[in-house]
Amino acid sequence: MEGQGTIETIRELRLALDKLAGKTVGFVPTMGALHEGHLSLVRQARQDCDVVVVSVFVNPIQFGPSEDMDKYPRSLGKDIALAREAGADIVFAPASEEMYHEPARAKVRVDGLEDVLCGKYRPGHFAGVATVVLKFFNIVRPQRAYFGAKDWQQLVVVGKVVKDLNLSIEIIPMPIIRAADGLALSSRNQYLSPQERISALVLPAAIQAAAQTIHAGERDARLVEAAAKEVIAAQPGVTLEYFSICGPQDLQPVDIIVGEVLAAAAVYVGPTRLIDNMVIRI
Ligand code: PAJ
Repeated sequence: MEGQGTIETIRELRLALDKLAGKTVGFVPTMGALHEGHLSLVRQARQDCDVVVVSVFVNPIQFGPSEDMDKYPRSLGKDIALAREAGADIVFAPASEEMYHEPARAKVRVDGLEDVLCGKYRPGHFAGVATVVLKFFNIVRPQRAYFGAKDWQQLVVVGKVVKDLNLSIEIIPMPIIRAADGLALSSRNQYLSPQERISALVLPAAIQAAAQTIHAGERDARLVEAAAKEVIAAQPGVTLEYFSICGPQDLQPVDIIVGEVLAAAAVYVGPTRLIDNMVIRI
C-alpha cells in the first residue's frame, strides 16, 4: 500500500464505497503515468461528484503481443500523490491477478467500432478496453465516468457499451489537453528523445492542415487526407499508420464532407506510436 487512500483489492474498495452509500461517485479510469490530461479529468470529477475514484491499472488484455505493455511507464507512488492533489478520494490500484481470474473467457465486443481506425492496427485492443472498463464500472458502480477525447475511438466505444448494455452511468467527455507547442499530452511522450519530441509536432500539424484544407472549402475527404499525409511524409523519422476523415460517431470513412467530421491519425515517431484527432465542423 503506497500512501493514504490507496486500495488494491476489490473487497476493500467495495467496503469503502458501501460506507458512502447515497453519495455521487465519479470515476476516472487510467493506466497511470499521470499527466495534466488525466488530472483534468480528476479535477472535473472533483467538481461534479461527492466521491472521486481514480483507477491506476495497466490492463494486460488491451495490449498486443508486440506492444509496449512491459515497458509502459509505471510510477504508482507519484501517481497517487498527483491524483490526490487533483481531488481523488480513493486511488484503486489492483494487481493483474485481482482483476483477472485465469482463464478469463468473457469479453465485451463492440461490432463495427473496434476494427476501424486504431482497431484495424491493434486487433483485440478495444475489446480489451471495453471489457476492463465494464469490469471497473461493475466494481466501482459510479454515477459518472470521465474519458478524454484524446482517445476518441475509446470514448465512442465506451459510450456504445453504456448505451447498448443499459448501464446507468453518464459518460463525461473531456477535451484534449495539449502541451504549449500543440502536442497532445500522452504517457507515451516519455519515450520520445528530444529530437523525436520535435518531430512529433508533425502529428498536430497534419491534423491542423486537414482542418485548414476543409475550412478553405475542400469537401473531398480523400483530398483532405492526402494533404495531411503529405505533411507527415515530409517529416523524416515519422511514419504514418493511418489518417482518416470519418464520421465522429460511426467512425466510418466519409467521401464528401458535410456537417461534422473526425480527423483522426496515428503515427510512429521512431518506435513510439502516437495518436491525435480533432472534430472539424463546417
Ligand atoms: P490512459 O491512456 O491512462 O488514459 C486515461 C484517460 O485519460 C483516458 O480517458 C484518456 O483519454 C485520458 N487522457 C489521456 N491523455 C489525455 C489528454 N492529453 N487530454 C485529455 N484526456 C487525456 O485510456 C486509458 O488509459 C485506458 O485505455 C483505460 C480507459 C484506463 C482502460 O484501460
